[in-house]
Amino acid sequence: MKKRVAIFASGEGSNFEKIADNKDLKDKIKIEILVCDNKDAPVIQKAEIRNIPTYVFSSKDFDSKEDYEREILKKVHNLDYIFLAGYMRIISPYFLENYKNTIINIHPSLLPKYKGKNAIEKAYNANEKEIGVSIHYVNEEVDGGDIIAQKSIEVSQSDTLEYVTEKIHKIEHELYPYVILKLIKEEL
Ligand code: GAR
Repeated sequence: MKKRVAIFASGEGSNFEKIADNKDLKDKIKIEILVCDNKDAPVIQKAEIRNIPTYVFSSKDFDSKEDYEREILKKVHNLDYIFLAGYMRIISPYFLENYKNTIINIHPSLLPKYKGKNAIEKAYNANEKEIGVSIHYVNEEVDGGDIIAQKSIEVSQSDTLEYVTEKIHKIEHELYPYVILKLIKEEL
């Protein structure tokens, strides 16, 4: 039976796309819904053209995080996994309580280094010789939680930030579907 999952995203949706289009995942997962907190995000159209239902909200329309998370919880009822793919909001303990150890995030750094926004740029500007991608369980800290997988690349002095960024995204696009498949087959 297919695992029922949701993807949460805030922006471009390139990771969303790679998960949704992955051939090996097609008969393993059903993306029940895309949850997006930004009505202008390109990821919304990527879901629509694939006939994946969307729930788009604006945090400004709610009095508190608990209020909008309560609304999200109504849309993501009883799912097997939630995959965060560039979802730029912290998940509260209230929400996590409902989805213990089943929310996974991808972050473009070798955690615990460079949590938060602009992680690739931060690592690059710090002259790191090795930078990478982490996939981890989500807990109440920003980009915190147990690490499931990491992959890195070496950075040489002549590499530009643009080049490194592109390479990191390429790793993300391969690693996230691969890790999801492994998780679902209980090989991780
Ligand atoms: C990805 O690089 C992802 O790792 C990052 O946002 C980007 C989303 O790209 N996530 C974080 O920084 C989480 N702290 P996408 O919308 O094209 O998938």
